[in-house]
Amino acid sequence: MKHLHISRSIVELGLGDYSMKGDPIINQFRLLKEIAGIFHNRKLLSEMSQETIAYSVQSWLPVAEGTPGGLFFGVSTIHPGKVGDEYFMTKGHFHAQSDRAEFYWGIQGNGMLILMDRDRNTWAEEVSPGSLHYIGGEIAHRLANTGDENLIVGACWPSDAGHDYEEIAANGFSARLVEVDGKPALVENKLK
Ligand code: F6R
Ligand code: ZN
Repeated sequence: MKHLHISRSIVELGLGDYSMKGDPIINQFRLLKEIAGIFHNRKLLSEMSQETIAYSVQSWLPVAEGTPGGLFFGVSTIHPGKVGDEYFMTKGHFHAQSDRAEFYWGIQGNGMLILMDRDRNTWAEEVSPGSLHYIGGEIAHRLANTGDENLIVGACWPSDAGHDYEEIAANGFSARLVEVDGKPALVENKLK
C-alpha cells in the first residue's frame, strides 16, 4: 500500500449476474457425479448426465484460510434441475469453528436456504432477489434451487470459519426439500 496512491479495487462484481472478476478469484464447479451422495434417488441420478454442473461457486479469500478477524466473500450459482422430485442443491455444511456465523443474500432466481441445528431440527427460508439471511453459528446450511433459472446467492463469512462437510456427508440433513404438488416441501429424512 503506497501512501497517497489511488487505485481501483482488485475485484469487481458484475451487478447484472454478480459474476466476480479479478485476479484472486477462485472458481469451483460441482458436477452431479461429485455430489451424487447427497441425493435420495441414486438410481435416477445414475441415469442422468454425470457431467452436469449442479452448482458453481466464485470466491474471494483476501486473507489466508484460518486467519482470525478476516472475511471471505462468495457467489454461489445453483443450476435449475431435480433428481426425481428433489431439487438441485449444495452439499451443505456446518462451519468447522462452529460458532462462526454467515450472511447469505438472494440475487437472482428462487430457492430455499435449508438450515439444521445440532439437534437435527431442520427448517428453511425462501430465497429470492433481495432476501437477506443470517446463518447463526452451529447451524448447518444448504441452498436448493426451486425455480427454472439459475439461483444466484451472495455470501460473506469469517475467514477462520472453515467447513465441516463430514457430518452432512455421513448423516445428511434431517429433512429433504422435494417438490410436492408442484411446490417445495420439507419431508422427513431418515438417518442412513
Ligand atoms: C461458505 C458458504 C458458501 C458455500 C457455497 C457452496 O461458508 O456457506 O459459500 O460454500 O454455497 O456450498 P457447499 O460449500 O456446501 O458446497
Ligand atoms: Zn458456510
